[in-house]
Amino acid sequence: IGFFFPRQHTLAVIKPDAAEEQKGFIISHQKETILSKEVAEEFYTEHKERPFFDQLVQFISSAPCVLLVLSKENAVEDWRAAMGPTDPDKAKETSPDLLRARFGSDILHNAVHGSSSEEQAHREIQLMFGDQSSEQVTSSEGEMAG
Ligand code: TYD
Repeated sequence: IGFFFPRQHTLAVIKPDAAEEQKGFIISHQKETILSKEVAEEFYTEHKERPFFDQLVQFISSAPCVLLVLSKENAVEDWRAAMGPTDPDKAKETSPDLLRARFGSDILHNAVHGSSSEEQAHREIQLMFGDQSSEQVTSSEGEMAG
């Protein structure tokens, strides 16, 4: 690889304190993956009729995403609060600390996703991590509850 692509490599680690910094979230599961068009369409199926759907699917499947199952009490609402409004410009007006204010550039390229409800979270986790042993997912949900 070095011969054809003489790029340098570095190892970055998200250490435990950084993951927990955002209000005590625990990373229960994670993987980096390039979503297929099919999975991306399923992920955003509720937006199928919206004018931005094709762009949205194209964008999210264009390069690797890091998928995380974040766990804590009230995780759904608290993660959405940490992200801020869908539009990064609105997020910036609210607070520069919001994730979309810090890392988003426009309403499509808004850096982060968060499930909109517990039901959606269940569906999305199943879609993204369902190919792994359900025992793993269940055991981590067990920890969450405890
Ligand atoms: P939505 O579920 O409304 O927002 P959120 O991600 O905050 O729950 O929309 C899903 C994604 O669709 C959003 O993160 C970015 C994209 N999107 C657009 O590209 N244009 C738009 O006008 C909207 C509303 C969303």
